[in-house]
Amino acid sequence: YEVCAVKAGVMLDEAGHFARLERSLAALDIAQPVSMPALKLIGRHLLRLNRISDAILYIQISRGVAPRDHPFPVVAPAPALIVTAKRLDWQKQDAQAEKGVGLISMPDERWARCDIKSTALLANVLAKQKARDAGGYEAMLTDEAGLVTEGSSSTIFMVDGDGGLVTRPLGPEILPGITRETVIDVARAENIAVTERAFSVDEAKAAREMFITSASGFVLPVVEIDHQPVGNGVPGSLATRLRRAYIARVDAVTRP
Ligand code: PDD
Repeated sequence: YEVCAVKAGVMLDEAGHFARLERSLAALDIAQPVSMPALKLIGRHLLRLNRISDAILYIQISRGVAPRDHPFPVVAPAPALIVTAKRLDWQKQDAQAEKGVGLISMPDERWARCDIKSTALLANVLAKQKARDAGGYEAMLTDEAGLVTEGSSSTIFMVDGDGGLVTRPLGPEILPGITRETVIDVARAENIAVTERAFSVDEAKAAREMFITSASGFVLPVVEIDHQPVGNGVPGSLATRLRRAYIARVDAVTRP
């Protein structure tokens, strides 16, 4: 599945989301129900038909309908496609960014191929709920070595003492976030150093700033980890600057 934000009718980071969808389908040996260009047209058509210009576009593809069994059906069924568009309120996202969000650390209980974006989200859902029940917004998942992997539905970034960005390198333990890629580009264009390395929860708690990224949230400053303030407990200046630079990039492609 894919989740892509839409602003003023324009799908943001469209190429990245569709390329990742193609990779996930290939990894799971699921055929493409329609070509990727046709799928983009279906997305645009759905937005137009429903007169929605600011949205979350959701695309889900399954292997198709077959008698219940574990092996793939011998005769491959037609893959099933669901596309939905849900109105998105950018002001809500802005309000959240101004306040900042809290993370709750916990062990990552997901499978060994988190680089595939799949609807098998049970561990993600349980982690998110655990974070919410603990009064946080998002989970900060940790591997067996105590290093941060990612959020239950977001990528996690840290700002180190030198004002550079640190985020876990791509690998099977994390989803290759499309927003992650764009934010790294934006940072480098702003002459901000970016290091891809894993970091611990303790390092994160002592970081100058933290933020999370996702298609629906863009860049959201983290102000608390396990109810302890990050930095001085308010959205950091670098996170705020990157969020503005990200939005400026979005505006450049969505302005009529
Ligand atoms: N979640 N990691 C996980 C586990 C995710 O589910 C997501 C996205 C991300 C961020 O990826 P991107 O920048 O491409 O959105 C990282 C989407 C928003 C979701 O499932 O709703």
